Amino acid sequence: MSGQYPVNIKDPFVVNSILPPDELKKLQQHAMLLWATKPTYDNSFGRHQWYDEPELKRVHEMLTNVARDYFESPTLMPSWCLMSTYEGEAAKLWKHKDDNACTYHIDLCVFQKESWDIWAEGKPYTLMENDGLFMYGNDQEHWRETFPSPETNLVCNAFFFYCEPDHWYFTEGPQYIHTHIRAKKNTDGTPSMM
Ligand SMILES: [Fe+2]
Repeated sequence: MSGQYPVNIKDPFVVNSILPPDELKKLQQHAMLLWATKPTYDNSFGRHQWYDEPELKRVHEMLTNVARDYFESPTLMPSWCLMSTYEGEAAKLWKHKDDNACTYHIDLCVFQKESWDIWAEGKPYTLMENDGLFMYGNDQEHWRETFPSPETNLVCNAFFFYCEPDHWYFTEGPQYIHTHIRAKKNTDGTPSMM
């Protein structure tokens, strides 16, 4: 972002077994509970999504040191987080770069019936439960191809985003994405991406 907090962009990489087993189990149970009791299905993505949810925020904070180690930044800070569960024929993820506060982006596989590769910078990555793809969401293009077995599949991912302290998310506030960044964008019918 700036000279004070340089971001050293590396190729996307997978980290295995990110959460301790008890924390993974807790997050999986929480994700199933949200899916069963607070559905938020969005047909444009074919997924349910829950933003900045308290239990997820706790895990987000907990993973700060993991993010600092792997992204090799002692200064990065949690910005926002999201959990999504994909299902049905509408499940999709367009090719995009993130426009929100996603400098450092961890895509953690919480649970899945059948794995669904995530592509980043032209390469596919197969995640097993508790594996995470680490990438630079604002700089690296990512997407998914056809959702496998849409009649039966269920794929849940948690997204944890981190930024440097001089990022607009911290200096201007989280609403800046709406008041400035997306307000100036031409929309072409594609839903806003994280
Ligand atoms: Fe994204």
